[in-house]
Amino acid sequence: MSANPAGGATRGCVAILTAAGSGTRLGAEQPKALVELRGESLVVHAARRLADSGCVERIIVTHPEGEAERFAAILDSSRVPIELVPGGATRQSSVAAALARIDDDVDVVLVHDAARALAPPELVRRVYEAVRQGRRAVVPGLPVSDTIKRVAVDGAGEGPVVATVDRATLRAIQTPQGFDRALLARAHEAGAARAAQEGDAATDDAGLVEALGEEVWVVTGKEEARKITVPADLLLAEALLSRP
Ligand code: CTP
Ligand code: MG
Repeated sequence: MSANPAGGATRGCVAILTAAGSGTRLGAEQPKALVELRGESLVVHAARRLADSGCVERIIVTHPEGEAERFAAILDSSRVPIELVPGGATRQSSVAAALARIDDDVDVVLVHDAARALAPPELVRRVYEAVRQGRRAVVPGLPVSDTIKRVAVDGAGEGPVVATVDRATLRAIQTPQGFDRALLARAHEAGAARAAQEGDAATDDAGLVEALGEEVWVVTGKEEARKITVPADLLLAEALLSRP
């Protein structure tokens, strides 16, 4: 146990690193988390930055079925213990599988996407500290630069505009997301029926907390934490890594 900024006793922080996706939109020949940037796979970049934050005691990595050996081989040199768990059919079910491995004596859980491989240790600390200060669900977010409209889309993804949303109040939400462990567990339990199908599943963990009617607090995100989804995102990530 150690003291926390709010004065109470802290009981530990575990990170869940989701890496069990296939990376369909990236279109690589291997799972997205194994794709390399500057000679290191995305999951290794992400795990190292989590470990370097200094606030994570253990990392649970979700991996695609059948990939445990490859993941174990590249993740063996981390500064904090790493545990591997096979993921599920959706991101939500992968997180639930990892969450089931976390004991009740842990009080803070961070959930992070390997696809946000360059999220810096400073951002991990910002989220963690906000949870330690008493926010029970914390997400990083950045203002959006596009004009966003709600559209009554047809099967081809086209249709009339329904509304233009006020951009000033919108945020593009990132990971790591930080939670009081008991709240996150309750949110996953309540939303468990959604986990099996991609069309129903929550795309982030905060969404499950919101569905409980609990507050989710947004802190300022970072450019480096943008998600690598399509090939052009890899080029941007390379450029960010090359910055002095
Ligand atoms: N993820 C996971 N388990 C799944 C699906 C996704 O752990 N069943 C993870 C991914 O590995 C990724 C994160 O969730 O780190 C965000 O998902 P996304 O960017 O959609 O990655 P993929 O699902 O791999 O990509 P795509 O949707 O293009 O197939
Ligand atoms: Mg996906």
